[in-house]
Amino acid sequence: MNELDTLVDIAKALFAQCDTPADLENAKAQFLGKSGHITVMMKGLASLDVALKKTQGAAINVAKQAIESALQTRRDQLADAQLQTQLKAQALDVTLPGRHRATGGLHPVSLTLERIEQIFGSMGFEVAQGPEIETDWFNFTALNTPEDHPARSMHDTFYVEGGYLLRTHTSPMQIRHAVQHVKQYKNQLDAGQAMPEIRVIAPGRTYRVDSDATHSPMFHQCEGLWIGENVSFKDLKVVFTDFCRTFFESDDLVLRFRPSFFPFTEPSAEIDIQFSSGPLAGKWLEVAGSGQVHPNVVRNMGLDPERYIGFAFGMGPDRLTMLRYGVNDLRLFFDGDIRFLSQFQ
Ligand code: FA5
Ligand code: MG
Repeated sequence: MNELDTLVDIAKALFAQCDTPADLENAKAQFLGKSGHITVMMKGLASLDVALKKTQGAAINVAKQAIESALQTRRDQLADAQLQTQLKAQALDVTLPGRHRATGGLHPVSLTLERIEQIFGSMGFEVAQGPEIETDWFNFTALNTPEDHPARSMHDTFYVEGGYLLRTHTSPMQIRHAVQHVKQYKNQLDAGQAMPEIRVIAPGRTYRVDSDATHSPMFHQCEGLWIGENVSFKDLKVVFTDFCRTFFESDDLVLRFRPSFFPFTEPSAEIDIQFSSGPLAGKWLEVAGSGQVHPNVVRNMGLDPERYIGFAFGMGPDRLTMLRYGVNDLRLFFDGDIRFLSQFQ
């Protein structure tokens, strides 16, 4: 074996040991670089005579091509190996389930609120909305609950900075809405004429320091108010009974008006309902507080209690939702677990 064949073998062996493109380029320089073996041999041809130059030159060229071809082969191998590693790292698991866009839906309590608005809407009630951060005046004082009144302790209130509080019920909306209404019909009232009746519901979020299976610190209420010249407790019974039977789609649903106390109504009643069938058959459940609006409250609305009279109620849409769907823990509605919530779609 001549010197050139040995050189080709050495180059091949060396290239085979190179694991990275950088190593390979360094190895290449030993043979084909400026002072590499092949380059030096080529330069040496200058001193030879013409005949020898021709044969030696051809032989060196063959060796050079063999080394270049070995180099290219190794380059291709390394590039291929790199590609394989990259592909492995970015591998796609085609057995994973595809990602699909989930369809959203309304929260069960929102469904209840929509239903409440629709049913009361059909009875001629408008819908009003008001602030969740309230003043003491609207939440308590205007509702005949002055400071130091023991009834204030019935509500565990969240107080916030600046003398405000988180409303403990939707009852402040009785005053807010009635005052607006009275302002709107001021001219008629001043002239001693009758004003259109106040007939409104006010659904929304309410807050109390409260937490168990039937109490949540943030919950919903829906206020109802009907004020006119001749609106009585009997109308309250008819309206609320009608509402409950429509809401629960049950004509034999029984309601109980249980005597109670609220500073802003007199007389007052808690409203309980009883189911005749289903998992809650025979049980009484409180769904609302209610009563004939107290004369002091009518006065705070800007109306004459000798002339205007009516009823109010405050019900718990969260409780209505529990009853409608047979859910036994109210807090489930506010945990935000999609597995629970998606059952109501
Ligand atoms: C009131 O809040 C009165 N403002 C209701 C009222 C309005 C009476 C107008 C008279 C005239 P009460 O605290 O009972 O009353 O609450 C009314 C309803 O809200 C309850 O029957 C219940 O359904 C619901 N509720 C009260 N506290 C919570 C709570 N922490 N979590 C869930 N629901 C509640
Ligand atoms: Mg109550």
